[in-house]
Amino acid sequence: MPITYDGSTQCFHLFNDRVSYIFRLAGGKYPIHVHWGRRVRRVRDELIERRTIWPEDAFSLNETALDFLPLECPTYTGDLREGMIHVIHASGMSPLLLAYESHEIVEDKPSLGGLPSARGEGAQSLLLTLRDEVSGVAVELCYTVYADTDVIARSARIVNGGSTDIVVNKALSACVDFEGCDYDFTTLCGAWARERRPYTRPLVPGDQGTSSARGASSVQTSPFMMLTSKGATETEGEAYGFALCYSGGFEASVHVDHHYISRAMIGIQPFNFSWKLAPGEAFQTPEAYLCYSCEGIGGMSRSFHRLVHSHITTGKYARAPRPLLINNWEATYFAFDEEKLLSLARRAVEADIDLFVLDDGWFGHRDDDHSSLGDWFDDTRKLPNGLAGLSEKIHALGLKFGLWVEPEMISPDSELYRAHPDWCIHVPGYPRIESRNQLVLDLSRDEVRDHVVGVITAALRRANVDYVKWDMNRFITMWGSADLPADRQQELGHRHILGVYDMMRRITAQFPDVLFESCAGGGGRFDLGMMCFMPQAWCTDDTDAWMRCQIQHGTSLVFPASCMGAHVSAVPNHQTGRSTPLRTRAAVAMNGTYGYELDLTKLPDEDIAEIRAFNKRVREMQPVLLYGDLYRLRSPIGGNEAAWMSVSPDKREAVVTHVFAQAIPNMKDGLMRLAGLDETLTYQDIDTGKTYGGDELMYYGIRVTKPWGDYMSQQWFLRAVKED
Ligand code: DGJ
Repeated sequence: MPITYDGSTQCFHLFNDRVSYIFRLAGGKYPIHVHWGRRVRRVRDELIERRTIWPEDAFSLNETALDFLPLECPTYTGDLREGMIHVIHASGMSPLLLAYESHEIVEDKPSLGGLPSARGEGAQSLLLTLRDEVSGVAVELCYTVYADTDVIARSARIVNGGSTDIVVNKALSACVDFEGCDYDFTTLCGAWARERRPYTRPLVPGDQGTSSARGASSVQTSPFMMLTSKGATETEGEAYGFALCYSGGFEASVHVDHHYISRAMIGIQPFNFSWKLAPGEAFQTPEAYLCYSCEGIGGMSRSFHRLVHSHITTGKYARAPRPLLINNWEATYFAFDEEKLLSLARRAVEADIDLFVLDDGWFGHRDDDHSSLGDWFDDTRKLPNGLAGLSEKIHALGLKFGLWVEPEMISPDSELYRAHPDWCIHVPGYPRIESRNQLVLDLSRDEVRDHVVGVITAALRRANVDYVKWDMNRFITMWGSADLPADRQQELGHRHILGVYDMMRRITAQFPDVLFESCAGGGGRFDLGMMCFMPQAWCTDDTDAWMRCQIQHGTSLVFPASCMGAHVSAVPNHQTGRSTPLRTRAAVAMNGTYGYELDLTKLPDEDIAEIRAFNKRVREMQPVLLYGDLYRLRSPIGGNEAAWMSVSPDKREAVVTHVFAQAIPNMKDGLMRLAGLDETLTYQDIDTGKTYGGDELMYYGIRVTKPWGDYMSQQWFLRAVKED
């Protein structure tokens, strides 16, 4: 019974073995937060702040007291702080006095219409209906608690139970009020080629947060935030993570009020958003995940990773080994022909690679990024035998074949644009602002989606693909749809992303055996919404090994290695000009879905031999590398070293990776304590044959050799051999 309701105290308690989430009904009406943290059996009335125990309280509270209460669903009514939901009635006024109407506890969890969401196997959900009696508007809050991961899923559904239209102006997914503000606040921010860097600062009274108004989760920000107790580390202290299952504009914020109550909320960005609801209609918010750890930030990440592996990623590859790929992008960019691709593929066979991926430039007359998006027919100048002919030859070499597409976009220089100039998102009379010389298709429109699904699936069939890289290379501004009436134009952002999801659902469903990887100009849509359709995403366009250490470190706060596309590329690196050893580039890429992105025909045979050895090792260790429990040992953020390790669930295998940035003169070999092993087991380093006790490795440490040269790395592949 992971969810209970105690009628005498009007308390809802969601729990698993480690975590409790408790709220109660103040005065039988208003759901107020009591506790989210370590598992407790209950919280007695006398411990709860008196003014929240309504109406017996000596303050003789009335509705104005909502401003004091830690409301589970604040609505700017009585409570004057930031709210979670805001609606405007036909009268033009906007009160929403939500009070308890009913609740239901169900197994599993309801699906969220067109929105992606975590599956609810083995979970239990609470459906709590609140209603404003005057207008009839209801809000249904859904809470799900999992036994296998310390995550509470939350979402809200706004139902117009009245007799006139309403407009929803703000519809966030979750709100939690924390007593006090003695926390540090972390968000992930960045830019193209340097995504998801953690930034931490103390909470202060007032507003703080992160958001994206770019129509996508973006490279600049991430739909994630974290509160940590003061002094929390990777292994100690409390961490509260919030993540959103959504790929459009979002907001994640904390508002610290005049009593130092910290209100944390996450959901769809209110900017450029509203939704009209006729009587009887409903609006569903995306799902938010609230993750608690009393084992530091590392514990939080491992819970998020379990959520991803057990409840988010789906399909044939969700828990399977991933093919080792070679992508031609950094090898050729747009300048290739069939023979060049085949020469790369032949070398890939010698290098023992599984999959050849043809990136951008195979369609229309796309010799650079100025044209042809939307014209998904083969460029026979480059591929005289078309995709079909190339794919056949690649398959004949014994390789799988993969293809790049960017289905959501349209180039002004394209046959599609000339035929349908109103199919893009645009505002009549204003310039159509291009980014990377392209515009965005209006995917709120059925006929646009039907067309795209038709031409993309035809290309994938023609190419007989085993893998697809689904790219999206610009963000959205000048929102306007030729298809929506004026009073629904503000719905376009959300309608568009629902359209993206609809296309992804329809296309991926037709290719159940194909591995899909999402991408957005690097890591511009690295969010849980995308992961519901495609189990891996290109982490960043930055393939420099040291930058990768930083980006993969930040990304791993929420996402496991199985989600992070990571490739070995050429040196000097194309984004930084830096040269790093091949071994280090491989070691870093092994902590993601492994591949190559360089011209193999230019590598000497010794490098190819080394690559063969890396591939053998990756194949052998992929289960632990991709699906093991992650422990971050050294942070490259502002530091000179990066180190992390993955441990199999049974603790019998582990891979440890350590990277130095700069070599410093007069250094000594160092000691690094490992984590997550079984202290009673003996582990063998499978390269050297040497054995060590789990206790020794964790409580004494392993020797890290001082570097001779910059960007040196070491890896240890450990396997349990016997009990100590
Ligand atoms: C952006 C991606 O991140 C790159 O890997 C590559 O696919 C280009 N787009 C192609 O245009």
